[in-house]
Amino acid sequence: MTPDLECLFSFLRFASVSTDPGQAGEVQACAHWLVELLQGQGLLAETVATSGHPLVLARNGHRAGRRSVLIYGHYDVQPVDPLELWETSPFEPVLKGGKIFARGATDNKGQMMAHVLGVGKLLAAEPDLPLNLTLLFEGEEEVGSQSLHQYLKEKKEELACDVVVVSDTGMIAPGVPTMGYGLRGITALEGRVRGPARDVHSGVYGGAIANPATVAARLLASLHDKEGRVAVDGFYDEVQPLHDWERALWDQLPDGDQEVREATGVSELFGESGFSSYERLWARPTLEVNGLGGGYQGPGSKTIVPAEAFFKLSARLVPNQSPDEIFGKIQKHLEANCPGGVDLHLEQGHGGQPYLGDPQSEYGKAAQEALGRVFGKEPMLIREGGSIPIIQAFQEELGADSLMLGLALPDAQIHSPNESFHLENFEKGMQLSQEVLRGLAALP
Ligand code: BES
Ligand code: MN
Repeated sequence: MTPDLECLFSFLRFASVSTDPGQAGEVQACAHWLVELLQGQGLLAETVATSGHPLVLARNGHRAGRRSVLIYGHYDVQPVDPLELWETSPFEPVLKGGKIFARGATDNKGQMMAHVLGVGKLLAAEPDLPLNLTLLFEGEEEVGSQSLHQYLKEKKEELACDVVVVSDTGMIAPGVPTMGYGLRGITALEGRVRGPARDVHSGVYGGAIANPATVAARLLASLHDKEGRVAVDGFYDEVQPLHDWERALWDQLPDGDQEVREATGVSELFGESGFSSYERLWARPTLEVNGLGGGYQGPGSKTIVPAEAFFKLSARLVPNQSPDEIFGKIQKHLEANCPGGVDLHLEQGHGGQPYLGDPQSEYGKAAQEALGRVFGKEPMLIREGGSIPIIQAFQEELGADSLMLGLALPDAQIHSPNESFHLENFEKGMQLSQEVLRGLAALP
């Protein structure tokens, strides 16, 4: 095993699950390990304590008058459950069939480590690289980046940069260089429907009181029409049509319908009519049920009217929708449709604005050239369906667009069991990191 791969494996062994309070120690240990690695590469590096998980900040020696580049990534990962579906242990990385299997292998540790090691190699070869580099890694991306948002507002001057480089997005297919220029935003919420004071006998009381699970099911069913269009009043008010140049670009991509069927294993697609899969995924907003529960979940049957039911929802947003406004519209819809006899309690969760950059800026062009040099092909330009809320904040607070050099392949199983990262993308990623920085340094 190469030292680079050893290094990635060590990184992957930390169970840095940001949403799980029981793993806070692992998240912290991971941050400290990263700092040591960065210091070993000759960078000035430190952890920055926050009210949540620490940030990791590193820089080379900055000089006035040089172009500034911020490299962003996240070292936290999603939970592993259901654990029984993993073929190998999620925090014991293995290399099998050219892929590295572990939670976070692609999202985002593998992609992030490609940049960390790429920077190390580049600075070893060119210690006087004329760029002011800042590496900024967070441990809360998977839970909404609250601490980093705060830090960004407080440290605008220190973090000032011309452009951001990040690999935390998708790649169309193996060997097909891909640059993202858009992300959907998000607004998350949780609902609780409370009925009888406790679970009660469904024969003795059923029929005379509202059933919270039925109410939750009806409420959720009311959120869409039969064709999959969101039925919340005003939900689509701010949505912009796709630009012609984007439609032309996306027409050159491989068949999106087939990609989605293959990646998800569904037999048939379902979604808003009149839009292609790419448009549905990248340029249309959605409202999804992420979790739903209530009542008896054990073996056999239990005849009760449950005391409560709950649901977790999130909406993906496109330019110019705002998380707070959309939350308000969903809230209004649910409250208006909730019958009497139960209490509906809604809580707004994390949120992030959608992002749209210009792939043809001077930086965008430099990144496309770097992608072309590393992969030997013209890059594809895409938007993304996923969210990285801090990317829009970089644009808003620092005035810097992000070059999203995605290395996540459709088969990577991010957020799912058996997540993996192609070894080839790790190696190409390290080259890409160096090429893009060289390209940015060479700009007039
Ligand atoms: N790396 C993903 C986002 C992503 C994945 C973008 C694939 C494009 C293609 C990121 O780690 C992620 O999962 N973000 C969360 C953000 C949320 C929790 C605020 C998401 O999109 O659900
Ligand atoms: Mn993720």
